[in-house]
Amino acid sequence: MKKRALITGVTGQDGSYLAELLLAKGYEVHGLIRRASTFNTARIDHLYVDPHDPDAKLFLHYGDLSDGARLVTLLASINPDEVYNLAAQSHVRVSFDEPEHTADTTGTGTVRLLEAVRLSGIETRFYQASSSELYGATPPPQNEETRFYPRSPYAAAKLYSYWITKNYREAYDMFAVNGILFNHESPRRGETFVTRKITRAVAAIKAGRQEFVYMGNLDAVRDWGYAAEYVEGMWRMLQADVPDDYVLATGTGITVREFIEISFGHAGLNWEDHVRFDERYLRPTEVDALIGDPSKAREKLGWTPTIDGRQLAKIMVDADITALEHAGDPWIDTVHLDSWGTK
Ligand code: NAP
Ligand code: GDD
Repeated sequence: MKKRALITGVTGQDGSYLAELLLAKGYEVHGLIRRASTFNTARIDHLYVDPHDPDAKLFLHYGDLSDGARLVTLLASINPDEVYNLAAQSHVRVSFDEPEHTADTTGTGTVRLLEAVRLSGIETRFYQASSSELYGATPPPQNEETRFYPRSPYAAAKLYSYWITKNYREAYDMFAVNGILFNHESPRRGETFVTRKITRAVAAIKAGRQEFVYMGNLDAVRDWGYAAEYVEGMWRMLQADVPDDYVLATGTGITVREFIEISFGHAGLNWEDHVRFDERYLRPTEVDALIGDPSKAREKLGWTPTIDGRQLAKIMVDADITALEHAGDPWIDTVHLDSWGTK
């Protein structure tokens, strides 16, 4: 029997890779999308088939994690075997500007979806996109037993989501799991996260379209993996015999500075000629170092990542150089993105 999945956040980086993976596995995939005045489906357009076509396997539904009633009716009508809750206001710096909105989407949104599962009476497996941001001020290496110490409104909202997911597992015997994912990137990464901001800037500087990129804290350490490999881990968590929580990480950490050095070097550029500091990109409270220990996922799920931050920098630079070569106008360069405010 063909399985059916619902993905919230299907238009995001991870949602697009997960939709690809599930379609390749023969799933019927349903995605929740927000109504916007402009199209927000660029990352999944290549997967879309007109729903009138008998071969269509991807179906999109308007909805929002702030609208609980909609979630109940949608779940009852789709009746999915698996629900992946990837939707969130996912930018840490932005969460300091919009703490209440972040709490509503990234925190309360999760309990709305869990309640929708419970109230609609469906039998489904539930994946919650938890985050290494939960560890915050606790030094690495971090695993499933490490103490949480959130350092942003985003992380505090994700902490609520982590515990409410665990609570629904224990209280209602739901197959509900937390994937505690360390940073994962790709050529589809949102343009204002640090890796993509850097690799887009490298492409634009190499092409002579801009001279400088303005950055914040270069000393932060992150464990960057490849998003396409991480969605495989999400899927494996929902195929396990028992529900449990897992860290997905590469186990290797590098600084933002090193990511910059590798990215500029790969394009034959000297980063010190082009990178400038702007305090706008600092956070009121920073997470200094995240390096995960993925032993449990390796042993229990057989999940092993193969690409780390150093390799990713080169993959993403190559992709952004190619994208820029093929981009018509308007090309929104990172200088313009920067001028839109704090990111
Ligand atoms: P992303 O690219 O920012 O995508 C976020 C998705 O959530 C988008 O589809 C967005 O829709 C949707 N969304 C935002 N607010 C919503 C709302 N109120 N109702 C419904 N949908 C809403 O994030 P990502 O990198 O793919 O990450 C996926 C999830 O994993 C997020 O929950 C993130 O916090 C978490 N996570 C990410 C990482 C990472 O390194 N990438 C690590 C750990 C955890 P629009 O396209 O309309 O904006
Ligand atoms: N965005 C950004 N822009 N970050 C910068 C900049 C800049 O100009 N300069 C330095 N940084 C530093 C940040 O201070 C942070 O320490 C690091 O680069 C990574 O920032 P982001 O790429 O914005 O990611 P994040 O680690 O804060 O959050 C991401 O990973 C989390 C998992 O650990 C997001 O994807 C979250 O949704 C996710 O939960």
